[in-house]
Amino acid sequence: MNLLGLKDLKREEILDYLRLADRFVDAAGRPATPDEFRDALDGRPVGLLFFEPSTRTRVSFELAVRRLGGYATNILSERSSIEKGETAVDTCQNLEAMGIAGLIIRHADRHVPFTVAEQVEIPVLNAGNGTGEHPTQALIDVFTLRRALGRDDSLEGVTVAIIGDIIHSRVARSDVYALRALGARVVLSGPQKLLPMADEGWDAEVVATRREALAEADAVVVLRIQTERMHRDVVDSHDYTRDWGIDAGVAADEMRPGAFIMHPGPVIRGMELTSEVADGPRSLILQQAGNGVAIRQAVLIRHLTGR
Ligand code: NCD
Repeated sequence: MNLLGLKDLKREEILDYLRLADRFVDAAGRPATPDEFRDALDGRPVGLLFFEPSTRTRVSFELAVRRLGGYATNILSERSSIEKGETAVDTCQNLEAMGIAGLIIRHADRHVPFTVAEQVEIPVLNAGNGTGEHPTQALIDVFTLRRALGRDDSLEGVTVAIIGDIIHSRVARSDVYALRALGARVVLSGPQKLLPMADEGWDAEVVATRREALAEADAVVVLRIQTERMHRDVVDSHDYTRDWGIDAGVAADEMRPGAFIMHPGPVIRGMELTSEVADGPRSLILQQAGNGVAIRQAVLIRHLTGR
């Protein structure tokens, strides 16, 4: 069974991942693996194909595979040799022929995981496809928020702001699907050129200023400006920090008391967040990173084992 995106997932399906992931976190919130899951992957090899840079996603998938008794093998792309969709498909078919049990794929071309999934029998898990989706990151985000707010099965009545480079963000797209499925209200904001048009099908409100976005938010997901996805510099970094950045003054003045700061990483310190805020008491950023292992363990169990 593949996991390519969250678009069509129902609330119960999302909750199933979160409840299973709860079992992979100890009382202190650290990654943990109950005995009954230690051998879940039974020594099977899982292929990690990251055709784009990654730290958190790749390492947490790798740790998750190992904690479940599997074997993670990294297929490192020489940037020049594997670039086209066809070549990635070819690589994946060869890995399947060698007995790889599942493929975890990150690729700049949003079609690649879908094309591969059509051409192989083994499960394909999307670890970020261009500006498409990043389903496991969004599961991490709702998992982290739900635990921080002490919620069990819904985010009903919770408002989440997502600020920054929305149109290029696969995290924002998957976050909206996951948050809406759990009943949260989502408010998007950022520089006008980086915001979706009203008719682009985002199930969220769009507001024009940081102050409006933060005013009612219980949590704000701060995004990086993804310059690698832009044809030229659309945003001046100085203007961006002034209008959209969050420093201690902005947090105190524009955020609700107790509202959380989230970020999928990598954080560009001094641009979207100051260190004081990124490392401050509102920040859930390191919890998100830590929870990545638990969520990916849950996803591997559901998609690569019969359990
Ligand atoms: C993000 C990604 O690669 O989509 N990071 C992540 O996976 N945690 C966001 C980004 O690159 O800004």
